[in-house]
Amino acid sequence: MAAPDGAAGFHVLDARDQWPLCGLLPPQDPVTGDFRPSRRDFATRKLGSTGPHGPARPEPKAVSIMDGFSGRSAIVTGGARGIGAAVAAELVKVGLGVVIADIRVEEGAATAALLGERAVFRCHDVTDEASWHAVIADAESLFGPLGVLINDAGILDFGAVTTESPDVFRHVIDVNLFGPWLGMHVAAPHLRDAGGGVIVNISSTAGLMGYAGIGAYVASKWGLRGLTKSAALELGGAGIRVCSVHPGPIHTPMTAGLGEETAAGQPLPRFGEPEEVAAMVRFVVTEATFSTGSEFVLDGGATAGQVLAVPIES
Ligand SMILES: NC(=O)c1ccc[n+]([C@@H]2O[C@H](COP(=O)([O-])OP(=O)(O)OC[C@H]3O[C@@H](n4cnc5c(N)ncnc54)[C@H](O)[C@@H]3O)[C@@H](O)[C@H]2O)c1
Repeated sequence: MAAPDGAAGFHVLDARDQWPLCGLLPPQDPVTGDFRPSRRDFATRKLGSTGPHGPARPEPKAVSIMDGFSGRSAIVTGGARGIGAAVAAELVKVGLGVVIADIRVEEGAATAALLGERAVFRCHDVTDEASWHAVIADAESLFGPLGVLINDAGILDFGAVTTESPDVFRHVIDVNLFGPWLGMHVAAPHLRDAGGGVIVNISSTAGLMGYAGIGAYVASKWGLRGLTKSAALELGGAGIRVCSVHPGPIHTPMTAGLGEETAAGQPLPRFGEPEEVAAMVRFVVTEATFSTGSEFVLDGGATAGQVLAVPIES
């Protein structure tokens, strides 16, 4: 008997089908009277493992470099340029077929063409649910079951709390936070059905601290960091890892208007390059097989702390 688990959108076995095996009754919901599996039992059964001597250890199902990536597809939103383009190139190198999903048609097509036959461009707006279904269907029919989702698409707007337009504030949240949520919402069942996968959400140091003048962006990136942790908790049992990456200032079209002095106060006083972020994302996807809900920071030390106004010998 299967019961829908509305919160996660998955179908889980009814607890009563399983518990007679050990002669115990599961905990009961005090309100509905329904039997509920324990957290441990839930995780174990979702991975489908049973053992003769008590609960077996769950099989590690997250995609790792040990599994290889041939036959799996990846989607990189915002992959037409900047960080996303560098990430797409890196994922092609590890053997994934990559769909570059972006609203910038010309740049997206040009980026995909540079990467050869293991990359294609699809016009995709991350705020549109139908567009998510279409891009995932394309990825799977071209390159195989979805294995990796990189939520990179993002926008930055300058506006103070007192001056920002409400419509612009909502739009930034829509693209930077609702978009990744929608992507995970639609993609997670595909990753689960394929035996697991990895989701990387590109947040920012603006998801770790505040910045004056970009409150909407900061709110969206803190939100994405928190959403990453909720998703990691919900999806780990399905073999899906979900992590956030937090770059400091990186040379891309988004930051073209920022002066180099932006990075002057950092221990490493320079902007980062998109390829440095891509290397971190590749590490999260291929090597960090025991990490989920984790934050990976690359910021030249910007969030390390504050330098006190006292002379320090070093
Ligand atoms: N550049 C930095 O310093 C920096 C630092 C920290 C975090 N980030 C984050 O990294 C990500 C990439 O930034 P970037 O610097 O490469 O910016 P970018 O502007 O160069 O690239 C962003 C891409 O997202 C696409 N995009 C925007 N709205 C979209 C939508 N609705 N649907 C699909 N695609 C959409 C754009 O067309 C663009 O190609 C963003 O989420 C950004 O917030 C950037």
